[in-house]
Amino acid sequence: MQKLIIHGSSSDSQLLVGENFENFRNYLPAHKQIIVLTDDKVNSIYGGSFIGFPTVVIGQSEKVKTLETIDAIIEQLITFKAGRGSFLLAVGGGIVCDVGGFVASIYQRGIRFGFISTTLLSQVDASVGGKNGVNHRGFKNMIGVFNQPDFVICDPNMLKTLSQDDLSCGFAEIVKHTLIADANMFNWLEQNVNKAISLEPEAIEKLVFNSVAIKAAIVNKDEKEQGERRKLNLGHTYGHAVEKVMHLSHGKAVSLGLVVAAKLSMKRGLLDKPSYDRIVNLLQKLNLPVEIMGNKQEILEALTMDKKREGNSIHFILMKGIGAVAIESIGIDELKQISL
Ligand SMILES: NC(=O)c1ccc[n+]([C@@H]2O[C@H](COP(=O)([O-])OP(=O)(O)OC[C@H]3O[C@@H](n4cnc5c(N)ncnc54)[C@H](O)[C@@H]3O)[C@@H](O)[C@H]2O)c1
Ligand SMILES: [Zn+2]
Repeated sequence: MQKLIIHGSSSDSQLLVGENFENFRNYLPAHKQIIVLTDDKVNSIYGGSFIGFPTVVIGQSEKVKTLETIDAIIEQLITFKAGRGSFLLAVGGGIVCDVGGFVASIYQRGIRFGFISTTLLSQVDASVGGKNGVNHRGFKNMIGVFNQPDFVICDPNMLKTLSQDDLSCGFAEIVKHTLIADANMFNWLEQNVNKAISLEPEAIEKLVFNSVAIKAAIVNKDEKEQGERRKLNLGHTYGHAVEKVMHLSHGKAVSLGLVVAAKLSMKRGLLDKPSYDRIVNLLQKLNLPVEIMGNKQEILEALTMDKKREGNSIHFILMKGIGAVAIESIGIDELKQISL
């Protein structure tokens, strides 16, 4: 087991990578009422380990990441007589963690909370960094807070029950992290891709720890996304547009976003062709898409609506080789001219 600390403005957060989730009691505060929040699928697989704790179960998918769900959870917290001294343990993927962190932050002006992160995506991304929130009328993550959980447990063994699609989503974010900050880890993943796909626990622990370390280092420098944290948006500017237009899963959209960022980087002379090919090959080996099949015009239109647009240009995160990035401004006209 490896441990990392995020020093948030609200509180510190312990990230426990490789910990057996069954040891969760060791991290719970003493003498507090513990309430578990999870979704119906995770509950059906792991609920047996949380018997005896009052439990709130929500549904699955982005559709439940809403204020209505927050309202329903608050109703249940009241039924459980939860007070300022209660502690919320969210057990699930990115959705349960986002919803859990948000409801804990506002219930009675805030109760403490922790995560058992059960998807690869949430272990390497969603549950790390203290962003918690819900969607509003179809717009993602419109309402939320920055607040760090007391702890995040990332147990690689929990990932064995994930679908292939959900695993790929996590791998897209792992590749993103290596491209932002760690060329050695990119090389290692290239060499060990089969171990990664077959979820060999040591390989997964190494990859999750590395990803969490990269994200934690960036969040420690810039918790509230004033500058450095924007680097984490690599592949997400185009990715969000693709996700919206093509209704792809987030990870697949990010994969396409990474390919587009690599292509733009190559066009600007920041990335050479062999490196571009390595990135595309690695994504393919991880069962991620690398070619855009949808209506590119529509994607471009969605892109120009992006909130990162400023006047006639968009802030893009581009790659300076493998393992380093730069924030660059790209004109809308320039984007239209190149064949993405
Ligand atoms: N807060 C952040 O910084 C941040 C960062 C990235 C993503 N996110 C958010 O995370 C969400 C996506 O996260 P996600 O991909 O984990 O989605 P998710 O929580 O919907 O989980 C995906 C699916 O896997 C199931 N599942 C969870 N754990 C499982 C397990 N161990 N075995 C089998 N099935 C399991 C879930 O029931 C669900 O059906 C999005 O809403 C996104 O906005 C947040
Ligand atoms: Zn993402």
